[in-house]
Amino acid sequence: MLSLKKAHEVFLRVLLFPVTRSRGQRPNASEVLTQHLLQRSLPHWTSFCVKYSAVRNDQFGLSNFNWEVRGTNYHILRTGCFPFIKYHCSKAPWQDLKMEDCFFTALKVINFGIPTLLYGLGSWFFARITETVPTSCGPVTVYFLNQEDEGARF
Ligand SMILES: *[C@@H]1O[C@H](CO)[C@@H](O)[C@H](O)[C@H]1NC(C)=O
Repeated sequence: MLSLKKAHEVFLRVLLFPVTRSRGQRPNASEVLTQHLLQRSLPHWTSFCVKYSAVRNDQFGLSNFNWEVRGTNYHILRTGCFPFIKYHCSKAPWQDLKMEDCFFTALKVINFGIPTLLYGLGSWFFARITETVPTSCGPVTVYFLNQEDEGARF
């Protein structure tokens, strides 16, 4: 018979899933970003989510920035929408994005993150398409809101 204690433990584990997974080694979010772009062989654009609990949030506070992978520059839009961090990446030449970065970050602060929270909880139900990205700390799952057209231009 499944003991009450065991059932309670399982219940807690499901409830606290994002927290309990956070022990152990986690790759940097930036590593997942790079590995995803490489795995997709540097697409024109891509948009994906990764769970906060699966990574070390080393890009905290960055909203709009340049990211170079093997000589290819991307403009990244990064939004936290709990329980996910959402990335939108598009191939573009390096550009000073400091102004934009401040603007998006300010917007997030003004909004108290509430719309992004709702958006994140919404994504939870739609993020059905997943892919596994290899990292130095093992595979990490990334989520997509819809099937991306390989090689589509944005
Ligand atoms: C994550 O990045 C930091 C520097 O920002 C580095 O010291 C650390 O080793 C990295 N961790 C992993 C798992 O790659």
